Amino acid sequence: MTFYDQSKIETLISQETLQSRINALGAQITQDYLGQGDVVLVCVLKGSYLFLADLSRAIDLPLTVDFISVSSYGNDYESSGVVRMVHDLSHSIENKHVLIVEDIIDTGLTMSYLLANLQTRKPKSLKVVSLLHKPSKAKTHVQIDYLGFEIPDRFVIGYGLDFHNQFRNMPYIGVNLSGDIPLNPAYLSTKTEPSQV
Ligand code: IMP
Ligand code: MG
Repeated sequence: MTFYDQSKIETLISQETLQSRINALGAQITQDYLGQGDVVLVCVLKGSYLFLADLSRAIDLPLTVDFISVSSYGNDYESSGVVRMVHDLSHSIENKHVLIVEDIIDTGLTMSYLLANLQTRKPKSLKVVSLLHKPSKAKTHVQIDYLGFEIPDRFVIGYGLDFHNQFRNMPYIGVNLSGDIPLNPAYLSTKTEPSQV
């Protein structure tokens, strides 16, 4: 049994498929950056934390990791494109090879903001690796230098991607079929609050 209700979630990308594609991306990145100098992986929180963990271990190079967090206003399913910096990088990226690690590029608005922002800090190079891309939703063109998977225009959860801030720890990418929050009722809290006296 799992905390998510598997009968309400269609598997889009299995754990095995994720791992083998991420290993291939890691090998490609290793080849491209070998002998080039300082490499920094910039993880876009929160959605990319698992992708960063697996991708960084698939890259056979000395590198550093840093974290950035942005939030875009919008509804449950879609970002508005109005992006706000929540947590900035902790180190300078000047003269470094920067690779932005993103979970998904949907409208492209978040990534456009990040690229414009980081470019002003004079990195030696600035590239993008995204696990997922929904090409049909693009509102602005962003170049994705390394891409895991192109997916159809469906809202996905798992492997870092959330719905109501949950399901990030579901180990594969799935589509919620329920129209509601696909939690397993057996895992819902049964604790009752102590009654007021
Ligand atoms: P964009 O600015 O529209 O490209 O949106 C990028 C951000 O929206 C991602 O980093 C995600 O946090 C969120 N997002 C877009 N599509 C999905 C999805 O299908 N599932 C979960 N989050 C999504
Ligand atoms: Mg993201």
